[in-house]
Amino acid sequence: RTHIAQLFANSQELGGQTVTVAGWVRSIRNMKNFGFVILNDGSCFNDLQVVMNRETLANYDEIASQNTGASLKVTGTLKLTPEAKQPFEIAAESIEVLGKSTPDYPLQKKRATPEFLRTIQHIRPRTNLFRAVFRIRSVAAMAIHEFFQSRGFVYVNTPIITTSDAEGAGEMFRVTTLDMANPPLTEDGAIDWSKDFFGKPASLTVSGQLNAENFAMAFGDVYTFGPTFRAEDSNTKRHAAEFWMIEPEMAFADLEDDMEMAEAMLKYVINTVLEKCPDELNMLNRFVDKGLLERLHHVASSDFARVTYTDAIKILEKAVEDGHKFEYPVKWGIDLQTEHERYLTEQHFGRPTFVTDYPAGIKAFYMRMNEDGKTVAAVDCLVPGIGEIIGGSQREERLDVLEERIDQLGMDKDQYRYYCDLRRYGTVEHAGFGLGFERLVMYLTGVDNIRDVLPHPRTVGHAEF
Ligand code: 4AD
Ligand code: MG
Repeated sequence: RTHIAQLFANSQELGGQTVTVAGWVRSIRNMKNFGFVILNDGSCFNDLQVVMNRETLANYDEIASQNTGASLKVTGTLKLTPEAKQPFEIAAESIEVLGKSTPDYPLQKKRATPEFLRTIQHIRPRTNLFRAVFRIRSVAAMAIHEFFQSRGFVYVNTPIITTSDAEGAGEMFRVTTLDMANPPLTEDGAIDWSKDFFGKPASLTVSGQLNAENFAMAFGDVYTFGPTFRAEDSNTKRHAAEFWMIEPEMAFADLEDDMEMAEAMLKYVINTVLEKCPDELNMLNRFVDKGLLERLHHVASSDFARVTYTDAIKILEKAVEDGHKFEYPVKWGIDLQTEHERYLTEQHFGRPTFVTDYPAGIKAFYMRMNEDGKTVAAVDCLVPGIGEIIGGSQREERLDVLEERIDQLGMDKDQYRYYCDLRRYGTVEHAGFGLGFERLVMYLTGVDNIRDVLPHPRTVGHAEF
């Protein structure tokens, strides 16, 4: 069997030759004495047109009566068709039904809505939309590995089960073998976690950063690429309970280096997808987001904007003065909401924007305190259409400052003993960031709901399969 992708790649050489392909029926048209079968095998975005002739195909009627979704094996001659829309077709010599389908196959000719497709998660990978999105997702993942590997970064797999809260935000899914209907109790009536599997409470990780920092202090430059979990009760189009994150961590690096790396990485991924997925991008540009291609080309060739949080607040306050309405009031100290982020990156700057130096009070404990004693060396990268796609920072490398911060926040010092140790043994300036992979895929495809860039999304109240 030949992959349909191979036929498209080598059609000129294969003209006149006999080939065998296998795939799923997208549609069948029966014109009585001849008919067309449109087949896709997933190897490329393109469909294959098979022509069958009643005179030469013994089981013509059997094939003509197949339903959409059936799987077929086709042997035939590849005929170049320079005048037609598709560059070639297959003149069928024999067709075998591998697996039938039924008339109630959920994907019919009519374009299905993303909402409907979410109710058939097992079938939706067969649509053009998903064929495009998930090919791009795969190409983007490899591009990220290529980017870091070519710069000598070491790929580290950080644990999925963890006993520390990397973000200190308390949004973790508990992992336990205790019988929670009847848990063991301590003398004062609390759950006795010492009886649990690990002898203490454990959770699914929210970020591999703290583990990556351990390795950065040995390898210099490392990155993670793995699943992360957040029990955030936010039912939005950009939050999932299970998502993938890429977290580079670099020793001897400051916030400036961090931003340079993030910008170079995003541009590399965009350029790779532009180069490797033209068919997918063209379809998405036509049917999903009409500005997609223009935006990707624009981003790949322009410098990202940079603004401090304090200046960003001034820009937003000015917008309010000029009559722009935000749902959440703007004031120094607030956490930027999606509407604020999108105003900055879409209306004000019109390109991806780095916002730096956020108030310490709204950011994680590990971020490096700035000279002003009020802000930390944090950076978020905001992109049009989505808002925050990357969150990063320079890390607090000074032991005394870090310990003071942990104390101030009333965090359990013992839990972060290892983390503080890195500051005891050869501490150095270091920085890193986390790229939300699904948010990147949304950005690359123009798909506006995170549920449609995850194979099987997990969100509040939803986990199919
Ligand atoms: O900004 P966050 O919380 O940063 C961290 O976790 C750091 N430890 C990263 C680091 O410096 N190594 O998350 C990073 C990114 C966000 O910018 C966003 O793109 C994505 O992860 N993200 C989510 N994506 C989907 N669903 C969610 N619930 C997400 N929460 C964060
Ligand atoms: Mg963030």
